[in-house]
Amino acid sequence: MDSISGNLVLAKLVDQYPLSSRVLLKYGLDFCCGGKNTVAQACEAREIDLDMVISDLGLCKLKSSNKIWSSASNQELITHILDSYHAPLHENLPHLVELLSRVEKAHAPKYKQLFIDLAQTIFNFSSELIDHMAKEEQILFPWILANRQPRPIEPIHCMKKDHQSASAFLTQLAELTNNYQPPKEACTTWKSLYTQLQLFDHELRNHIHLENNILFPRFS
Ligand SMILES: [Fe+2]
Ligand SMILES: [Fe+2]
Repeated sequence: MDSISGNLVLAKLVDQYPLSSRVLLKYGLDFCCGGKNTVAQACEAREIDLDMVISDLGLCKLKSSNKIWSSASNQELITHILDSYHAPLHENLPHLVELLSRVEKAHAPKYKQLFIDLAQTIFNFSSELIDHMAKEEQILFPWILANRQPRPIEPIHCMKKDHQSASAFLTQLAELTNNYQPPKEACTTWKSLYTQLQLFDHELRNHIHLENNILFPRFS
């Protein structure tokens, strides 16, 4: 187990200390598509004090994971990704879109533009995400599990490009929602929407981390 220092690569940090993802998310440090950067490089890019982040990483009582996913087999890892990330998304995405439309109807006209932008962004992205997961479920994951030749380098390249656009979407979502902080006058449904969107953000980053940083490098 590596000690936590500025030289540790983000993907390895989250693999060895899963709770560290909460600290990274708090500071907006990207460990999914930017997982190859060290803690120090990520802090420098966001102009965040490295010592403060290292101290927070120590303070959050980091425990080693029950499961170090980099040691798991392809089968275990893919089952975990499907059960813990794909299945909840299939179930929850339609509810999220519906919740958004309820808040939108209740809050026109002062916040009309915000909700139009949010609805458009989320609606477009959710259909891209469903397509993306279908490609993993129907093509890439069976290919990996069958151990077929040639190795699935091209599909992985396409999935990584999708992950880049997912990361850009999450940046846009955080900007639109003021980093998931509703205004003072927000009603309970609005607050619930932002809580769910923040959870969606965190889960999607963990999901992409497992694919980009743990599963895909086994084939490149
Ligand atoms: Fe996935
Ligand atoms: Fe993916």
